[in-house]
Amino acid sequence: MDRILVTPILFAFGFISFTGIQSQPGHPINIVNITNNEGIQNATRFAMSAYNNQTNDIFVFKVKRFNNATVQVVKGYKYVVEAVIGRTTCRKGKPFNFKDCPFQPKPPLNREFVCYYTVWSIPWEKKWILLSLKCQ
Ligand SMILES: *[C@@H]1O[C@H](CO)[C@@H](O)[C@H](O)[C@H]1NC(C)=O
Ligand SMILES: *[C@@H]1O[C@H](CO)[C@@H](O)[C@H](O)[C@H]1NC(C)=O
Ligand SMILES: *[C@@H]1O[C@H](CO)[C@@H](O)[C@H](O)[C@H]1NC(C)=O
Ligand SMILES: *[C@@H]1O[C@H](CO)[C@@H](O)[C@H](O)[C@H]1NC(C)=O
Repeated sequence: MDRILVTPILFAFGFISFTGIQSQPGHPINIVNITNNEGIQNATRFAMSAYNNQTNDIFVFKVKRFNNATVQVVKGYKYVVEAVIGRTTCRKGKPFNFKDCPFQPKPPLNREFVCYYTVWSIPWEKKWILLSLKCQ
């Protein structure tokens, strides 16, 4: 749905920078309705997949709630997100769908962390790049 509307605009940006004419990166825009933002959802899936790959917890973590998020046009989209993540009951090593992974209900397994991640998406190259990821 989005694609039809968004792609030509992004192509225009790509074209402008490709021809050497200065392209103006936009300012970061605060996303109000984070849960319904497809770009943030994609960026989050990507960041959480990287997080789960890098940690040696036996369970999968996923986002519990978003604190805030911005999007900025820079040869694509740069998403900056702050979110609270929690440990789910899904074990790593098996295919899973984040949607079907409930959070751990009880201590001591119901851990939470605050994560900050920056994901850069270049839709016309089908590229997703994790620029930073920090959870504490
Ligand atoms: C967020 O978006 C959804 C669907 O587009 C809508 O139903 C909901 O009311 C929105 N929430 C806010 C706080 O704008
Ligand atoms: C989100 O990901 C889906 C599936 O890969 C893709 O079709 C869609 O264009 C993406 N949207 C955004 C805004 O990144
Ligand atoms: C996580 O690991 C899986 C399996 O090795 C891989 O397919 C996937 O691309 C990785 N995700 C990220 C974001 O690194
Ligand atoms: C994001 O939300 C957290 C928690 O509500 C808050 O502490 C932080 O200052 C916010 N950051 C920005 C950039 O708005």
